Amino acid sequence: MSTTTTDTTTSTTTTDTTATGTAPAHTTAAGLDQLNPPTRLLMGPGPINADPRVTRAIASALTGQFDPWMTDTMNETMALYRSVFNTTNEQTFLVDGTSRAAIEAALVSLVAPGQKVLIAVMGRFGLLLKEICERVGATVITIERPWGTVFTASEIEEALRIHRPVLFATVQGDTATTMNQPLEGLGQLCHRYGALCYVDVTASIAGNTLLVDDWELDVVSAGLQKCLGGPSGSAPITISERAREVIEGRRHLEAGITDGSAGVGERIRSNYLDLAMLMDYWGPMRLNHHTESGPMLYAARECARLIDAEGIAQTVERHRLNGAAMAAGLQGLGLELFGDQHYRMNNVIGVKIPDGVPGDDLRAALLTDFAVEIGTSFGPLTGVVWRVGVMGYNARRDAVLTTLAALEAELHRFGHATTGSGVEAAMAYYDQSKTNEEQPA
Ligand SMILES: Cc1ncc(COP(=O)(O)O)c(C=O)c1O
Repeated sequence: MSTTTTDTTTSTTTTDTTATGTAPAHTTAAGLDQLNPPTRLLMGPGPINADPRVTRAIASALTGQFDPWMTDTMNETMALYRSVFNTTNEQTFLVDGTSRAAIEAALVSLVAPGQKVLIAVMGRFGLLLKEICERVGATVITIERPWGTVFTASEIEEALRIHRPVLFATVQGDTATTMNQPLEGLGQLCHRYGALCYVDVTASIAGNTLLVDDWELDVVSAGLQKCLGGPSGSAPITISERAREVIEGRRHLEAGITDGSAGVGERIRSNYLDLAMLMDYWGPMRLNHHTESGPMLYAARECARLIDAEGIAQTVERHRLNGAAMAAGLQGLGLELFGDQHYRMNNVIGVKIPDGVPGDDLRAALLTDFAVEIGTSFGPLTGVVWRVGVMGYNARRDAVLTTLAALEAELHRFGHATTGSGVEAAMAYYDQSKTNEEQPA
């Protein structure tokens, strides 16, 4: 039976199809149209436009979470991320959620209340690590650096020697400042002083060199929405054998699936973000935990597959080349870059907003007139610096040149006299790089 009710005040018709299975009406009671977001060129600090191959993968059919095809796909994804992280860590998988889900999973699983953590803070995302560790109930010690600079190895060593934490945590690329903290030898340093080493590489992975095993980094986590070329919502993580042992030392099975065995150590204070349970879920036991998100698994797999096909070193080089061309173009316009350029991430460029130019108004005009998005800044850099991202699918020559042309036009509209052409400067950089490549070594 089908009953139809007509609402005479709004002239919408609602059909009750429960009994017959007839197709429902196309308009909603609220008169909403089909979703149709505007097409933008996202050249901010993330998110960026996902690679169309990633968006297509998301639309693939769903399977049951323990369907052999699904578990095989999970295993393939683990293998692909080992190559993106440059690691052989067995425990390399996805945390469902945005990047901070994996950050929080790492910190809540590695650090018990009262334990000492040392955090190197050089920007907003170092402060995020501090905030999460405080919520975990850790004893938090920070060393800090002005935004736009990085730590030396001896500064970190000195703090490790004095404080002897169980965990040292930092960020490789702090998106808020555009700086890329050198990590070579960091894990070895931490291990010498008895600490594990955690690094957030959300903004830097695949755009900058990252050698998890060579640098002995214990837990490293990321997100898809920057140089990996996907949407936010899945957070790849890798865990060393040393860190796995610490996490296993706090393993407590969930009541509904336990075999009655006693838990060990201090119970991890989150269920969803419990890395011991996540390892059991992604491992051969396949112990039930959350329901893995099919679409985000497909997205993460396709992001890593594309990088694997390109070659991780080549992906990093693509970010270096296009990021440097953007930096050259911005300087060609007569703009001043922010921060110590020797340590800038390849993929995000901070540029000082010229005197007299209203930064947010110009960004809004760029979006309205050209559908180009660039980023604002946080904390001490608010109103002082724009951040321009060149990453993932958008680490391309045409995206760089379009952004520079649009920015130049808007600067002129806002009455700022540029000192040269950004597009020409970027093109000259590309040409010069090509000549250098062609020259015999
Ligand atoms: C370095 C860094 N860490 C963590 C995050 C948090 O990521 P999400 O918003 O995906 O949780 C961001 C986001 O921009 C980031 O740039």
